[in-house]
Amino acid sequence: MPKLLPIVVLASGNGSNFQALIDAIREGKLAAEIRGLITDNVQAPALERARRAGIPSHVAIPDGDRTAYAQQLQSILDPIAPALICLAGFMRILAPSFIAAYRGRIMNIHPSLLPQFPGLHAVAQALAAGARETGCTVHWVDEGIDTGPIILQERVPILAGDTVVSLTERIHTAEHRIYPEAMRHCLESIIAKK
Ligand code: GRF
Repeated sequence: MPKLLPIVVLASGNGSNFQALIDAIREGKLAAEIRGLITDNVQAPALERARRAGIPSHVAIPDGDRTAYAQQLQSILDPIAPALICLAGFMRILAPSFIAAYRGRIMNIHPSLLPQFPGLHAVAQALAAGARETGCTVHWVDEGIDTGPIILQERVPILAGDTVVSLTERIHTAEHRIYPEAMRHCLESIIAKK
């Protein structure tokens, strides 16, 4: 039995990507154990997903500036010493001190083919631009907004008559494939370096 690497997921909302990671681990596809969910939203459905999966959850509401919030998050994360921190719809910009503390260990998923359409409302941006395809990207997190090195992408065609709702749904399906797959690559490279 390979050693399971500890990971922590940060999510603000529904948490369907969090669920995709839970499911992939349950199916034995990832040598990882989710040791915690951190959310900034007491009403996040992700909390119920954590409860059902028996994953400890932490609600961390900002009470100060970004640097103070980084310290708040670090006080939860440091005792766990996660090999990877996975942002899955976490709607906050993290302080440079946080990025520095966990550099090369923070992953994010974004609903476009980065570097196209970074930031908020990426699906609406793609539709407004008249793009013929968009997709999703798993990338490392650096100090920029959705600028870190790309780990994995999947293309999603934009169909005639697509709306934000229909396109978001197809992008989510792709996201649920690539997030576990990207994590598998990253875990393998961590294990290979040990
Ligand atoms: C996803 O589209 C992800 O790309 C973006 O936020 C959304 C989160 O969805 N960063 P969910 O909460 O995982 O369902």
